[in-house]
Amino acid sequence: MDVDGASAIVTGGAGGLGAATVRQLVSGGASVVIADLADEAGQRLAGELGTSVRFVHTDVTDEVSVQGAVDAASELGPLRIVVTAHGGPVAQSRILDRSNRPYPLETFRRTLDIYLVGTFNTLRLSAARMASCPALDSGQRGVVINTASIAAFEGQVGQSDYSAAKGGVVGLGLVAARDLAPLGIRVMTIAPGTFFTPAFQMSEEDAQAKWGGAIPNPQRMGRPAEYARLVQAIVENDYLNGEVIRIDGAHRFGPR
Ligand SMILES: NC(=O)c1ccc[n+]([C@@H]2O[C@H](COP(=O)([O-])OP(=O)(O)OC[C@H]3O[C@@H](n4cnc5c(N)ncnc54)[C@H](O)[C@@H]3O)[C@@H](O)[C@H]2O)c1
Repeated sequence: MDVDGASAIVTGGAGGLGAATVRQLVSGGASVVIADLADEAGQRLAGELGTSVRFVHTDVTDEVSVQGAVDAASELGPLRIVVTAHGGPVAQSRILDRSNRPYPLETFRRTLDIYLVGTFNTLRLSAARMASCPALDSGQRGVVINTASIAAFEGQVGQSDYSAAKGGVVGLGLVAARDLAPLGIRVMTIAPGTFFTPAFQMSEEDAQAKWGGAIPNPQRMGRPAEYARLVQAIVENDYLNGEVIRIDGAHRFGPR
């Protein structure tokens, strides 16, 4: 499928991986809705990239909110590309703390709500719109690319909620690809390793010093533009479907 001429939604499009994806898709000729909670960063990016980009204040956990982003994207052209890249910093804490008090259930629920329920909410509402768009000559209608994490496979100490949510995103991928296959809608999942983004809440220099050395090759954190190029490759290759692609420099998380 071509990026050129498609309309796209990027959730978390004002953040690190999301903004790089917005830039990549726009440079390939797509019109893009930045669907994010971050008004200032989202509007700044939309303003910088011009009329083919719109910022729509969106909470992925809310049905009406995501429907608004889907409607806005349809005004820009047939919705064919959806990338879920929302999230951000997550508190890390063991299931039992030092005093053996259990992890707060409300925190666990909230993390699943944002990362897993928000992903499913975006997927289902976007797929419904894609289904109503005319098929391309290839028979394809669109592609949804969800962002998991290598923590879906190698959850580290203190990541119970985040790893469970990302494991859920991985599990969702094949079912969604099968469910939506008759409509010509593909579903792919990217599992990034460690990419430098605002989520780290520190300077790039400090983050590279802390994490870069643990990555086998290249021995540095990933660049959001590398994630974004993978998104473009997935969009362009119709035979990629129902699979998870790790992009991690051969990194495998240890327990800590
Ligand atoms: N950076 C990494 O190393 C890395 C690694 C693996 C997976 N990921 C995943 O990639 C995604 C993006 O991460 P990032 O590093 O770019 O984070 P980021 O903090 O730079 O950007 C995340 C964006 O999501 C937005 N957001 C948060 N909650 C939202 C909601 N409810 N509705 C809509 N938007 C919301 C934030 O406002 C922010 O702009 C996340 O799902 C993250 O778990 C990142």
